Amino acid sequence: MTTEAVLAVPAPTWWRRPGLDVVDGSLSVNGADLEALAREHGTPLFVYDLARPAENLRALQDALSRTGLRHTVRFALKASPDPAILAVVRGLGAPGSATAVGIDACSPGEVLHALANGWEPAEISHTGTNVSERDLDVLLAHPVRINLDAVSQLERVGRRAPGRTVGIRVNPGAGAGYTEHLAYAGERPTKFGITADRLEDAIDAARRHSLVVDTMHFHAGSGWLGDQLAGFEQALVNATSFLDRLLAAGCPIREVNVGGGLGRIARDDEAPVDLDAYAAVVARHLAPYDVTAAFEPGDFVMKDAGLLLGEVVTVEDRAGTRFVGLDVGWNVSCSYFIYRYAQEVLPVRDPLHDRTQRVTIAGHINEAGDLFAEDYPLAEVAEGDIVAILNQGGYDQAMSMTHCLRPLAGAVHLERGTGA
Ligand SMILES: Cc1ncc(COP(=O)(O)O)c(C=O)c1O
Repeated sequence: MTTEAVLAVPAPTWWRRPGLDVVDGSLSVNGADLEALAREHGTPLFVYDLARPAENLRALQDALSRTGLRHTVRFALKASPDPAILAVVRGLGAPGSATAVGIDACSPGEVLHALANGWEPAEISHTGTNVSERDLDVLLAHPVRINLDAVSQLERVGRRAPGRTVGIRVNPGAGAGYTEHLAYAGERPTKFGITADRLEDAIDAARRHSLVVDTMHFHAGSGWLGDQLAGFEQALVNATSFLDRLLAAGCPIREVNVGGGLGRIARDDEAPVDLDAYAAVVARHLAPYDVTAAFEPGDFVMKDAGLLLGEVVTVEDRAGTRFVGLDVGWNVSCSYFIYRYAQEVLPVRDPLHDRTQRVTIAGHINEAGDLFAEDYPLAEVAEGDIVAILNQGGYDQAMSMTHCLRPLAGAVHLERGTGA
């Protein structure tokens, strides 16, 4: 790649939707001018569309309802513990109602946070890994659902709470994910769940401690898109063989939790997940069983509900590569740094302008890997311009840190249709 190359690549349009579009030539969230927000609040700045998590959850619930499958949806809180977002999720339905969305928690802290934000214990499902005795002190003090992902966890919970109702997380030996790292099961052993060769040990531990196993859980991985539905289906098929063995052993399984993992596209040429096809796959494989299917999406709910604004602080050519430097670091936007999710970056002024150059977009953390996009087509930008990194609503703010003593980003939450 050289800086001399001049392109004329049309700007991507996959991201356009009600609530995120071009108004008067500028990128707008719910009618609000993003440049004005950036100048008012400073950058980096997360901007959330408060209507979007509800739309995404409703779309999933509707697709599941169309199959006739008995189902429940729980939001994976780790994607966004932000109270403003949780209020939207809580608002979808009162506890116990058909439209209510529960919480998938992965730590005692998340359980306590869900309780503090209005969820009842019965609506909370905890699926953790390497759970300590201190974790169990908290978890066992609340009547939440607990999925145990190791034989040793069954032994410890069994000793501390004999007779308790629990779930078992299994490792289906197949997975799907945006990258290899984001597939949580496959041929290579991963740290999650009870593998096929340990299932009898798990059943034996449960029996010895009179634990009632009423749930089977698996999670295939995160960020998978439309073209990886077959990978998820394979995980589900494998999981049903665990289910058969649990039922044959007398476990009264009434819930099969298929985890989260649905991703969001970040490129025109990526294939979105077809929710009806996803729902149909789950319905087809679980139809023979008298169970409720549980879903725990995180990123699918939040990713496109937020973007991150930053200011261009440097445009400089270095040995044939044009670097566009932002006042944003991986400490507040780790999607590319950690997970290698493709990032889409748009100038907030004239975001549909043709892209004319290939650049590397870099952050302000003193690490060479602090990048957001490499060899990436971008319209002309100048120092002082504001750009938006799209798909930042899930995990990025939740995982933020003050590495290099760079402060956390601010956040604004916008209602649909008000611009405020
Ligand atoms: C057990 C479990 N459930 C749900 C999720 C949510 O995943 P996602 O945000 O990819 O939907 C995760 C994420 O790691 C998980 O580990």
